[in-house]
Amino acid sequence: MTAPASNDALMEDIVGLCKRRGFIFASSEIYGGYNGFYDYGPLGVELRNNIKQAWWRDMVHRRDDIEGLDSTIIMHPKIWKASGHIDSFSDPLVDCKDSKRRYRADQLFFAPVIIDGETLGYVAFVEGTDMPTILKRAKKIRDWADKTQSKIDEDALANDRKEVTEASEEQRAQMLAPEAGKVGSLTAPREFKLMFETKVGPLANDSAVAYLRPETAQGIFANYKNIVDTGRVKIPFGIAQIGKAFRNEITPRNFIFRSREFEQMEIEYFIAPDADWKALHREWLDTCINWLVSIGLPRKSITEDVHATEKLAFYSQATTDLMFQFPHGEQELWGVACRSDYDLKQHQKHSGKSMEIFDEASKSKFVPHVIEPSLGVDRTLLAVLTAAYTEDEVPNDKGKVEKRILLKFSPRVAPYKAAIFPLLKNKPELVEVAEKLYKKLQRRWNVFYDASGAIGRRYRRQDEIGTPFGITIDFDTIEKDGTVTLRDRDTCEQRRVTEAELIEFLEEQIDG
Ligand code: GAP
Repeated sequence: MTAPASNDALMEDIVGLCKRRGFIFASSEIYGGYNGFYDYGPLGVELRNNIKQAWWRDMVHRRDDIEGLDSTIIMHPKIWKASGHIDSFSDPLVDCKDSKRRYRADQLFFAPVIIDGETLGYVAFVEGTDMPTILKRAKKIRDWADKTQSKIDEDALANDRKEVTEASEEQRAQMLAPEAGKVGSLTAPREFKLMFETKVGPLANDSAVAYLRPETAQGIFANYKNIVDTGRVKIPFGIAQIGKAFRNEITPRNFIFRSREFEQMEIEYFIAPDADWKALHREWLDTCINWLVSIGLPRKSITEDVHATEKLAFYSQATTDLMFQFPHGEQELWGVACRSDYDLKQHQKHSGKSMEIFDEASKSKFVPHVIEPSLGVDRTLLAVLTAAYTEDEVPNDKGKVEKRILLKFSPRVAPYKAAIFPLLKNKPELVEVAEKLYKKLQRRWNVFYDASGAIGRRYRRQDEIGTPFGITIDFDTIEKDGTVTLRDRDTCEQRRVTEAELIEFLEEQIDG
């Protein structure tokens, strides 16, 4: 098996395949696209729905302690005041006056250009920039200083890196921004509000200002009381929600990894103030890791990033991000935060409504604390695509070894669960049996029927879109014992199974 040469190449391959096979398109493509927005095509919407359904099934249906919710995208603006988003949901922004580009200052880094122990200036670069590109930019500074023949301290360039948020004014004055033609073009960082504003109602004045939610979590806190009052919940319990969120990201980047419209799958898990939150936090991290593995992510590509205590918000007890090895580097996939009773207390204060719950077990009343596992649907989908994308070599119909692209999706999330093929399309007796089986399986699962072309080519088309199983109806099926061949996408191995065995196998693989 061969992996693509570089991670950039892998991202290009994934983006290309997504477009070619109808998974993901740039939004408004006929008008040149719209930065930070993506549309999901026929296969993409299936993959996306399957990820959401798998999460809902495991987190809500298969647990007795979690209830579901679907709250609105636009909510009373007071919610965002109480949560702190109106005052502080922003990112540091810097402008480059030369290239007219904008950057998130906490995702823009700089390193010194040192020659013979003297700092000649600084190069700024975005995360993920490779060393040859950084060195090329550093050489510009060296050449402008008329030191063309001198050697740049590459160790300092590679290791003395800081965020641009930490640069002094003097350092910025000597800094070469990523696409600038001269130094000193970066402005000082300023806070950029991330919430999208809109107006609600016929009046276009300030009192009509509302926001598109930047997270689904606040809809949960705002409905916590409704669910406590109407449900049969008892501490500890969770509320889960899947839904759209919007952030006016300064630099949407890396395909669907960071976009301006995305979807979240969030849980607020309410616990007693004196509960062992550390143990529960660990339990949630393990639950989340196991779930990611269940949808096909390799355990070894998931790591934990424990946030340093001094970087936590004042109300937060702990946050650990589950990181995934994306094509553009190891990045946050799932945040699991212990947020104390901050959000409920804020809503209690701003709404004047009590957020206390009576706990039968301890016969006491309290505002619960919360553990919040928060996951992006789109980011999960990119992780699933990254883990699934494979190139290998297999023999074709004539025995000649050919390169093959395949998506090794777990059957749980694969857009099509199986493809049904009559061996030959001009043999009505094969076609009849194949169509009958297709219609039968279609009642339960999303399956595909393909009668055209050589069987090897039909397999290959399904491999590329990640269909885990191929089912072929051949002459043995109609003339002998009714068995069909069942082909495994990853190994290409085939075995004969009866219809009953086939259905039992698919049930276990897809729904198990
Ligand atoms: N309620 C907590 C919260 O929203 P967050 O870390 O800002 O926390 C949670 O977001 C998750 O949502 C992230 O781990 C990521 O998976 C996803 N996410 C956040 N911003 C995103 C964006 N711009 N595009 C795609 N996914 C995003």
